[in-house]
Amino acid sequence: MTSPRTEAEHVEATNLLYRDPALYDVVQSDSTSAGMCQTLIELHRPNARTLIDFGCGTGRDLENLSKRFECIGVDLQPGMVDYAHLARPGLDIRADDMRTMRLGKRMDVVTCMGNSLAYVHDNEEISQVFATFAAHAGPSALLVLCSPVAPITRTEPTVATVDTPRGPATVTIRHEWHLRTQINTMHRHWVLPSGDEARDEIRRRVLFPRELERYAEGAGFEILDMLDGSGRGLIGPTAYTVARYTRR
Ligand SMILES: C[S@@+](CC[C@H](N)C(=O)[O-])C[C@H]1O[C@@H](n2cnc3c(N)ncnc32)[C@H](O)[C@@H]1O
Repeated sequence: MTSPRTEAEHVEATNLLYRDPALYDVVQSDSTSAGMCQTLIELHRPNARTLIDFGCGTGRDLENLSKRFECIGVDLQPGMVDYAHLARPGLDIRADDMRTMRLGKRMDVVTCMGNSLAYVHDNEEISQVFATFAAHAGPSALLVLCSPVAPITRTEPTVATVDTPRGPATVTIRHEWHLRTQINTMHRHWVLPSGDEARDEIRRRVLFPRELERYAEGAGFEILDMLDGSGRGLIGPTAYTVARYTRR
C-alpha cells in the first residue's frame, strides 16, 4: 500500500473535479444518493441516530443526511476535506483513509457512496475497507454502499454539455474494461468555457454482486438488498447494497 498522502495526491491528479471541489458540487448537484440512502435507512433501520460516511468527498450527501442523523464524514483527499470545511462548516469531516482508520466509535449506519469503494482496487485492501466498516458498526448497524456492480463495456465515446459557473463545458467520455483486473477506466476530456482542456483517467474496480456479498459476509454483514433504482431489478452498472451488521 502506498502512503495515504501519496495515494491522495494520486487520486486528486486523476480527476479535474477533485482539483476543483466547488465544480464537483455543481456537477453533482442533481444527485439523488442522499435521498435514496435515507429511504433505505428508514426502511431497514428506522431508529438509527448516528451515521458515518466513508469517502464523503465534499460532504454533499452528509449535508442532507445530517438533517436527520448525527454524522461524521471521512475522505482521503485533504483538498476535498478543506473545501468541505469551508463550504459546510457545521459538519464533522475528517481526512483519513478508510482502509486503515479507526475512530473508536460505533455508529448505527455506515455508508460509502458515490463509487468511493471502487477507488480501492486490490482484494486485500477491499477486505481492509470492509474491516473498517465493521469496526465502526454498532449492533445491527446498517451498511449502505453505492458502487459499480457491472462494467460499462461500450467503447464508443459519448459527448455531453455540463453547465459550470463560467458557462457550458463539453465533456467527452469513453470507457475501457479490463476483465482480468475488473477495472473499468473512464477517460474524460473536458473543454472548459475558457477553452482550456483537461483529461481525467478514473479507474474504478467493479465488484460484482456475489463478490460484494463475499466481502460483506466476511466482515460480519448480512446482505438485505441490492437495487439499482431502475425499477427493473438489478441490472447495473451501479447499485445500492444494503446490509446489516450481525456481530456484537
Ligand atoms: C466519486 S467521489 C464520491 C464522494 C461522495 N461520496 C459523493 O458521492 O459525492 C469518491 C471519493 O472517495 C474518496 N476516497 C477514495 N479512496 C479513499 C480511501 N482509501 N479512504 C477514504 N476516501 C477515499 C476520494 O477521495 C473521493 O472523494
